[in-house]
Amino acid sequence: MRFDPAGALEGSLRPPPDKSISHRAALIGAMCDGPTRVTGFLDSADTRSTLAAVEAVGAAVREGEADEHGGLFVEVEGVGLRGARPARIDVGNAGTLLRVLPGWLAGQPGGGWTLDGDDSIRSRPVDRVAEPLGRMGADVDCRDGRLPPLTVRGSKLRGIDYELPIASAQVKSCLLLAGLLAQGETRISSPVPSRDHTERMLAAAGASIRREGNAVIVAPAEALESGDVVVPGDFSSAAFFICGALIVPGSEVEVREVGINRNRIGLLSILSRMGVTMGGAHESGRDMVVHEIREPGPEPMASLRARPAALSGAEVGPQDVPGAIDELPLVALLGCFAEGETVVTGADELRRKESDRIDAVVDGLSAVGADIEGRPDGFAVRGTGGLRGGTLDARGDHRMAMLGAIAGLASREGVEVTGFDAVAVSYPGFAGDLRALSG
Ligand code: S3P
Repeated sequence: MRFDPAGALEGSLRPPPDKSISHRAALIGAMCDGPTRVTGFLDSADTRSTLAAVEAVGAAVREGEADEHGGLFVEVEGVGLRGARPARIDVGNAGTLLRVLPGWLAGQPGGGWTLDGDDSIRSRPVDRVAEPLGRMGADVDCRDGRLPPLTVRGSKLRGIDYELPIASAQVKSCLLLAGLLAQGETRISSPVPSRDHTERMLAAAGASIRREGNAVIVAPAEALESGDVVVPGDFSSAAFFICGALIVPGSEVEVREVGINRNRIGLLSILSRMGVTMGGAHESGRDMVVHEIREPGPEPMASLRARPAALSGAEVGPQDVPGAIDELPLVALLGCFAEGETVVTGADELRRKESDRIDAVVDGLSAVGADIEGRPDGFAVRGTGGLRGGTLDARGDHRMAMLGAIAGLASREGVEVTGFDAVAVSYPGFAGDLRALSG
């Protein structure tokens, strides 16, 4: 797919529903007694894998009409906290499903489950969940001790006090679900806070869950109560348009009803360090405006408006990484347009995403003219004020495909993205929405 230089990005759109929250709504819905009604469930390859997985373990899924933003109405009739039936589960490309679901399954004695997925999933480490689950008494096996397929046989679990070696929301979520079925409390501390969608949803379902400093503590539960979930727009999808508007001259883009969970919007603080001015609707002359903030469900949302900004290079370190993990490729792209150097460190987790996102970003952006150098745990970009264009390989990674598209619009000669169809993993309508903004 080819993306030619755009005159400007202009307009207002509601990005697709949040992927992380959609996965959790289906999984936690399956764990509840009774029906969970989800408004605005993301219709994408990854989240369809999660619907199929909860059906495989016995939950009933009823799909209603899609809303005007493409969000599905989904009703999940749960099997209850201890009612998952044995199954083989195909997680497709969904790392969140692969890492979070075993936590629930591990605490159900008598059951057996195998989780496997596509070629990319088979290279995603699962020892990060197998190891702490093992400490809880779980019976988990994986290939070479670290890769899928992953087999779980349900057993009696005990609560643990666990310090996450990496600030992963997927691992934290897995252990929180296991903690519901364990004997005694489970305490998980994290070096840096990560997205807390699971905590919010479990609290809404009646679980006893509390925060103490950098730790979250969950108590065993008899049952979870079902309720309604409203899924906000996905900040990680919206970020492509926000960053596009910052670097395509003449742009003015608004993204509406976007989730602004404080552990997801680390990109905004990186942007302000890069010189982007931010304010509310009443403040004039800002590059970015955050307005219409509201909280209709367990998650806050807002509208964000962006236009071109004079960018300067910035340093992004380990403290910034969990809150902006999926947006770091965009930071590299912005760095190409910034004055000075942008350096990202402490982000070796990027090597274990849908692709090795350090190599994919460095090779992809170099191929379209960037002055960028890879490091073991990040990259350094020297801003040259623009990008030439060329061919960028998405490497089967949805976020790389979207990065290539935005790079193309902001480039001088356009970008050909190979493997663009990977966008279906999180944002099947991306090209159409981008076309609507670029006129
Ligand atoms: C996710 C957490 C992040 C993120 C991924 C989705 C989640 O991964 O990169 O796209 O839904 O919890 P880690 O928690 O492994 O960093």
